[in-house]
Parts: sequence; C-alpha cells; structure tokens
Amino acid sequence: MAENMIELIDVEKYFGGVHALRGVSMQIPAGQVTAIIGDNGAGKSTLIKCLSGIHQPTTGQILVDGVPADIASPHASRELGIETVYQDLAVIDTLNVMQNLYLSREIRTGIWPFRLLNQRKMKAGAREMLARIGNTTLSLTQEVGGMSGGQRQAVAICRAVAWGAKTVIFDEPTAALGPNESAEVHRLIASLREQGITVILISHNFEEVMGLADVIWVMRQGRAIAKRKASETTGRELVTLLTGADIAAS
Ligand SMILES: Nc1ncnc2c1ncn2[C@@H]1O[C@H](COP(=O)(O)OP(=O)(O)O)[C@@H](O)[C@H]1O
Ligand SMILES: [Mg+2]
Repeated sequence: MAENMIELIDVEKYFGGVHALRGVSMQIPAGQVTAIIGDNGAGKSTLIKCLSGIHQPTTGQILVDGVPADIASPHASRELGIETVYQDLAVIDTLNVMQNLYLSREIRTGIWPFRLLNQRKMKAGAREMLARIGNTTLSLTQEVGGMSGGQRQAVAICRAVAWGAKTVIFDEPTAALGPNESAEVHRLIASLREQGITVILISHNFEEVMGLADVIWVMRQGRAIAKRKASETTGRELVTLLTGADIAAS
C-alpha cells in the first residue's frame, strides 16, 4: 500500500473572489485516522468537498494511491473508494436497516451478486455487514427514521464499507449528537481503522481528535499550517496553532 494514500499538492480554491484554499499541501496516510481541525471558515469543508467531488480545485493536484485524480463528481470520488458521511445522511427514513444496506447496491451493478437473492440471504448479508463494523445491536427490521443519529451513521457507514470504501470522510460527525451517540460514532471510527480503512475526520472536539486520530492537520485561513502526530502534541499546543497565538518559547 502506498505510504500516502491521498495527497493534496498546492491545492487552491476560489469561490468567485473568496480564496477558500490557499495552496494546501497535505498527506493522508493509508489506514490511519487523519484529523483536520481549524476555526470556522478555515477551509476544512471546502477541502474535503474537493475529495468528495462536490468541488474541484481551481489549481493544484490530488493524488490517490500515487496517481493524479480528477475527482469531477461525487460518483468519481466513490469510484476511487472515497465515501463521505455528511450530517444529513444518505439513509432513507421509511426503509428499515436491511433495506437501507441493500439500497444502493442495485445501482452498482456487478459488485454484489445478491440482486436476486431472497430475504433470508439478504438478512444474513446485512448481519455480516453490521458485524464488520462491530455493530451487533441494530435490528435489521427497524425503520431508520426512528433511529438515533449515531445509529443512522452506523447504517450509512456500514453501507459505504460494504461497497468497498477504502477511505471514509467524516465532516463534524458528532457536532449534533449527544454523548452516547457520539461514543457510538467513536467506536465506529475505531473499528474502521482496525479494518485498515483510511479515515479523515473533521472535528471541533479536541478530546475526540486526541482520542481517535493518528495524525492531526491544523488549517487556518485556507492553509494547512501544521501537522502533528496525536501522540506528540497536546490540546494546548493545538489551540495555539489553531488560533495563531504566538507560541511561547518553551
Ligand atoms: N460554496 C461556496 N461559495 C462561496 N464561498 C464559500 C463556499 N463554500 C465555502 N465558502 C467560503 O470558503 C471559506 C472556507 O469555508 P469552509 O470550507 O466551509 O470552512 P470550514 O469548513 O473550515 O468552516 C469561507 O470563507 C466560506 O465562506
Ligand atoms: Mg465546515
């Protein structure tokens, strides 16, 4: 596996006169959790939208597994094995867990041989998918509309991983969740990492970042200004980097 699964090289993004990304160069190592932190407006969402195919860089390059990638659409991003979990999740409330897990398969031909299989086999398949992300509590027949935010994320991510996602991007996954649901999402991220999936986590929650991330990138005003190993930094240092306060001589 390439050492840097995803690499951004001098990525610039303009929205008209707004210079949202100002030459971002960043390496996202395979199989690790990379956190991106930064104040509102720092460019975090714009950056990941360039990876998920919603935006295209104005200039600069993105490499996936060492190969220049033109991520022209969300479909192109998914084809590269990148799945993005947004706050308004791509689950359908009126369908149950199993139906949601099998939902998009029909439109991705050739990958899953289950299209004509019966309920019993679908149930076994769905249960296996949930087990892969370490979830043994969801009921397959439960309607997704009645589930907690954490459970809905579990279903969405389960489906992404079952599709063969190699990279999962989370943009503020716990911002709207309570402590129990957040803990569920944290377990989910940890289990993705255990499976060797690359995770990109945008978060405002330092505790979350320090607890889950291997590598932390700090963005400020459209730039990636610092990279730290989680094991070699502190919340205090991160605040300093984030706000741009002068680092006192140690
Ligand atoms: N679609 C857009 N059109 C115009 N400006 C945008 C758009 N998306 C983001 N921006 C601007 O780009 C900058 C970075 O925003 P964003 O990437 O959302 O930051 P973050 O996610 O770090 O809070 C901000 O100044 C924001 O207003
Ligand atoms: Mg954002």
